[in-house]
Amino acid sequence: MIKTIIISEDQLHIGAKALSEGKLVVFPTETVYGLGADALNPHSIHQIFVAKGRPSDNPLIVHISDMDQLDRLVREVTDTSKKLMEAFWPGPLTMVMKKSAIIPEIITAGLDTVAIRMPSHKLARDLIRLSGVPVAAPSANLSGSPSPTSERHVIDDLNGRVDVIIRGGDTQVGLESTVLDVTCDPPKILRPGQITYEDIEAVIGEVDYDQHLIDHKEIPRSPGMKYTHYSPKAQVIIINGNKSVEKMKAMKQEFEQMSKSVGIMVSHEYFDQFEGIKCNLGRDNSMIANRLFACLRELDTYDVDIILTHSVKKEKLGVAIMNRLEKAAGHYIIDTEEESK
Ligand code: TXA
Ligand code: MG
Repeated sequence: MIKTIIISEDQLHIGAKALSEGKLVVFPTETVYGLGADALNPHSIHQIFVAKGRPSDNPLIVHISDMDQLDRLVREVTDTSKKLMEAFWPGPLTMVMKKSAIIPEIITAGLDTVAIRMPSHKLARDLIRLSGVPVAAPSANLSGSPSPTSERHVIDDLNGRVDVIIRGGDTQVGLESTVLDVTCDPPKILRPGQITYEDIEAVIGEVDYDQHLIDHKEIPRSPGMKYTHYSPKAQVIIINGNKSVEKMKAMKQEFEQMSKSVGIMVSHEYFDQFEGIKCNLGRDNSMIANRLFACLRELDTYDVDIILTHSVKKEKLGVAIMNRLEKAAGHYIIDTEEESK
């Protein structure tokens, strides 16, 4: 067990020094908390995999604070990438690019590409700048559990497993960054996020989704996407279609008759229609994105057997929400329209 120091924003220099010494430092970003280490130090990177219990074939994102850090990390920066950086950096867009020789293999899981992101969160960028190193950082959760969006989540998962945790309140976006492969033409979205297909299309004209995002049985190009990520302990069931709330009520009753405990996760408009253990996802997609992981974790604290929830429209940010939700549910989805046919 490591003795974890928990520090606040005004003690950033402690976190920066720890990073430069090869230690593990958890820090907030605008998306979710990250578990950082010096990206050029293979020993430190190995410790990230140990702390998270992360499979070694899942590559990490390298975070930078300023553009002048980029050139030594990648072999080329295409015109398309430049346009995207101008439009979306700093911010929640990760770009998969051809890696340079200084990137350790352990970061990329042997791939010839490296994922790079410049976060917009001021504390995150100040930390990276002060540390003087590029910072590799996966989400700061134990492998397999939902990404952490609050200090509490980080402490629950990683206290005693990392050297430093920097407090930063609740994260703003709540879902991890959009991952875009810019080594192919047109670029491919490997993981949907707050920066949407439409946002990217508006800047570069043409973009694709990785086939895995259209048919989840296809093998994903992003190794991390194949794992049942984001899963709480309970079985999540998504109820689709315009009769979903009625169906949720009926299923809740059925499960309870079988002595199963049920947690309900619904958007604000349906919240008052349910009794018992429940979590309010909020009024619109940006709130739902922001609260999804926190709700999954909260319902788990009640030790429920089942979590019932409904879908949102798969458009714009809804694509990313449904991507995470379907993974949390292990693709256990019930379609009320199909049932009534
Ligand atoms: O918002 C975020 O991206 C957060 C914060 C901390 O920045 N980080 C994060 O990292 O979500 P992680 O490790 O949980 O997810 C990284 C994703 C994985 O799905 C991984 O497989 C993919 O990016 N990835 C990393 N390098 C890749 C590469 N070279 N090619 C394809 N996919 C890659
Ligand atoms: Mg993750």
